[in-house]
Amino acid sequence: MSYKGNFKVWRGDDTSGGLEDFVVEVNEGEVVLDIIHRLQATQAPDLAVRWNCKAGKCGSCSAEINGMPRLLCMTRMSVFTEQETITVTPLRTFPVVRDLVTDVSYNYQKAREVPSFTPPENLGLGEYRMKQRDVERSQEFRKCIECFLCQNTCHVIRDHEENKESFSGPRFLMRIAELEMHPLDTEDRTRDAQDEHGLGYCNITKCCTEVCPEHIKITDNALIPMKERVADRKYDPIVWLGNQLFRR
Ligand code: SF4
Ligand code: F3S
Ligand code: FES
Repeated sequence: MSYKGNFKVWRGDDTSGGLEDFVVEVNEGEVVLDIIHRLQATQAPDLAVRWNCKAGKCGSCSAEINGMPRLLCMTRMSVFTEQETITVTPLRTFPVVRDLVTDVSYNYQKAREVPSFTPPENLGLGEYRMKQRDVERSQEFRKCIECFLCQNTCHVIRDHEENKESFSGPRFLMRIAELEMHPLDTEDRTRDAQDEHGLGYCNITKCCTEVCPEHIKITDNALIPMKERVADRKYDPIVWLGNQLFRR
């Protein structure tokens, strides 16, 4: 069963752009990325879109559909009515390169700023066995496909460009939490999370969690435990005394 669907697709570059109207054939079982590909094949051969796997695993095809951050390849056309006009726009938080492609290099910069896993220096091979609950905690965070939908959604940078310098966003605060809770990591990441990565900007709106296609509980399992650790450190009288005595 096919029908003609109405679409508005943002076209332009970093200087100007706007929504263009298209009528495109829609077939049963298709996803929005199929429509974008048909649009390229039939009416707009120069339409720029980033994608790779078409299976929800590479994180490349992030965009906004009717204003909601989503993966183009995992959004079924069947969730819309045949009469509905579907609007496809690039991620709003990152600079447009062209059409639906944005420059997400902010995220790679923030990734580079997180110090890597630091196990004890003298630990030999096979000397430590991870507990199952520690393995499971890491595994949840490692489902991340780096689609950056959470980064795009968080109001701290979506509505405030000026915060990008001091806020690393939910994806990278989650990475810091993963390392902080790793039983073998020797770095103290609480101070870094607060002072260098802007954990304090997060006011737990949970919008990041809502848009995560991997259903990672970013707020409950990473950001809130991290905030609790920061608070423990700040208000623990022994830690507080130590900080006063050994303040740099
Ligand atoms: Fe995407 Fe979820 Fe990873 Fe954020 S945490 S980048 S929403 S997969
Ligand atoms: Fe932003 Fe998620 Fe916190 S959306 S405010 S990082 S809970
Ligand atoms: Fe890979 Fe959509 S194309 S996640």
